[in-house]
Amino acid sequence: MKRHLLLLLVFLTAIQPLRADEGMWLPALISQRIADMQAKGFKLSAEDVYSVNQASLKDAVVLFGSGCTGELVSDEGLLFTNHHCGYSYIQRHSSVDHDYLKDGFWAMNRNEELPNPGLTVSFLERMEDVTSAVLKGYGPSMSEAQRDSVVRANSAALTKAATADGKGLRASVEALYYGNQYFLFVFRVYRDVRLVGAPPSSIGKFGGDTDNWMWPRHTGDFSIFRIYADKDNNPADYSADNVPYRPKKSFKISRAGVKEGDFTFVYGCPGSTKEYAMSEDVRYVSEVSDPQKIALRTLRLDNMKKHMGESPAVRIQYSSKAASVSNAWKKWQGEAKGIDKNDVVNVKRDYERRFSEWAKGTRYDGLVEKLGELFARRNPYYLAYEYYTETARTIELLSFASSLRNAYPDADAVHSVAESFFKDYYQPIDEENFVAVMDAFDKKMPDEFKPAWFKDKLAELGSIEALRDYVFKGSLLTDKAGVMALTADDKDKVAVDPALEMYDAFYRWYYDELRPVINGVNSEISLAYRDYMQGQMDFEKDKAFYPDANLTLRVAYGHVEGYSPADGVYYYPVSTLKGIIEKDNPDIFDYDIPQKLRDIYAEGGYESQPVCFLATNHTSGGNSGSPVINADGNLIGINFDRVWEGTMSDIVFDPEICRNISLDIRYLLFCIDRIGNASYLFDEMNFAD
Ligand code: ARG
Ligand code: ASP
Repeated sequence: MKRHLLLLLVFLTAIQPLRADEGMWLPALISQRIADMQAKGFKLSAEDVYSVNQASLKDAVVLFGSGCTGELVSDEGLLFTNHHCGYSYIQRHSSVDHDYLKDGFWAMNRNEELPNPGLTVSFLERMEDVTSAVLKGYGPSMSEAQRDSVVRANSAALTKAATADGKGLRASVEALYYGNQYFLFVFRVYRDVRLVGAPPSSIGKFGGDTDNWMWPRHTGDFSIFRIYADKDNNPADYSADNVPYRPKKSFKISRAGVKEGDFTFVYGCPGSTKEYAMSEDVRYVSEVSDPQKIALRTLRLDNMKKHMGESPAVRIQYSSKAASVSNAWKKWQGEAKGIDKNDVVNVKRDYERRFSEWAKGTRYDGLVEKLGELFARRNPYYLAYEYYTETARTIELLSFASSLRNAYPDADAVHSVAESFFKDYYQPIDEENFVAVMDAFDKKMPDEFKPAWFKDKLAELGSIEALRDYVFKGSLLTDKAGVMALTADDKDKVAVDPALEMYDAFYRWYYDELRPVINGVNSEISLAYRDYMQGQMDFEKDKAFYPDANLTLRVAYGHVEGYSPADGVYYYPVSTLKGIIEKDNPDIFDYDIPQKLRDIYAEGGYESQPVCFLATNHTSGGNSGSPVINADGNLIGINFDRVWEGTMSDIVFDPEICRNISLDIRYLLFCIDRIGNASYLFDEMNFAD
């Protein structure tokens, strides 16, 4: 009996660390995690996940654009990502006549695929630890600024050497663990990427901003693209002669489905996390920054929503803009709440007390106090900077004025900047936003944190409304015909435009007054954080540390699991078409599904058609579009979101409630076939079962 108990105890302690699925691991070091992954059900080897010598899963994963992930699903360059990742491209092809956002888009053959200038996908060729090369020539007596220039010079030499083949290679050196380690990443960047298919927004964005960051979720958040290459399979600019890219590896699709407990592996590019931040850094986020930015964005969102509700044309123009304003706005709310609920600031303070105790007499002695002081010094300036980015920087006319100046006097460039600006510009929204956010800036910022220009103009003109008129009525740039008629001789008129005057006044204030202080403190913070990071690793010798996200490729593994968002409530991890029909409401824009979907459902037999599922993978912004892979290495879903109660996972991962949300691949297949009538695409896909 005793022996059994002992065995049980050994067993329990052995599986203990397996519970938490926290972590986003570097693929090149996956051999350190593979035993744990296999213990949890994964059947492939480390070499299958990442290899530079043979085709591996990494060759089927791309950085899509500059902030999403995508995966290859055929030998002919076919790629899946999220609808919200393809959104701005789908929008650019849309007008009131061809509203692909509203109606969806399906190329019925390759000639109908739509090119997307500016869109790239990047394949990781290799990653490697270059710490000693990056720090060559650095000595401990150097200042942080000197260290920076050593790092910069060495990195430039490394990236130059790494991209020598010239065939679309891009390389960057990224700091990991706050610069305790450096990795070189080499990518091959393809730039002819065409739109193949997208469901109507009433599927791809079903639930809209209301369901965003929430479970239960029923969004068919996918879009389909194809990568083209020159005849040698190398990157090339768009050309009708290009041919579909032939990947080294593409995913097989599994239709076997998921159930609670199944192993899941998300392979993608999380953007930014700070899991090792100190308490004061976190307190600033949850108590100061998040609430203030939320309030500022609420003002803009209210204006946009009002006008979008009144006009379908404005809805198209502002759909992408509103979605991106709303996305972080909602995330910050969940994040601040989660940090508060988990008492993260106090938990961190407690940790710091233990750390400081341990650090006595070591080189880490006093480090926590020092960091605290640095944040106290930085925060008022940083808040002013954040106000700047959420107020003056969000006025569309001002940014347009600046882009126009950069394009001037090249007439073609001026015309193209103006075309793309006016296509999606609705001046009443911009003017109302101006009044709302500049008024908030005036009321919330202490006088010493306002540009002198702003204070003087306001004193002279008397009100924010008068300032708005000064800028908008006085500007030449609100009138498209006028802008198109500008010639090189109008240089002086453009230079004194009030929109530019305001843009410059704020920019100079940021550049001359805020930036030097923030950068100065930040470089001290970087140094202290680098030590603190190393200190934490020394303090907790037995813990496996993963580097904070920085848009480099990562592996996050976990399993399908529901969660309890509140006392007495449990959320199951799988949603179905039945739930879509329950939410369907023709009177609410976000829940008005296509009639076709209603008709299909009415045929019967689709109640349990899977739509989305939850899992415990540690993901972040940038992981959208990432392949969700099963124990056999096959594609079962596309990651697209996290649950609201768990969005603080960028700062602290709570295994009880942090969940990623994925589209079930079977819903994507259903939509291609039944909604898009594009089942011809199945011919090039490889199915595992
Ligand atoms: N929350 C998800 C992410 O951060 C999806 C955003 C797009 N959807 C939306 N309704 N705005 O990207
Ligand atoms: N929706 C996010 C993205 O676009 C993913 C997340 O934040 O979980 O990357």
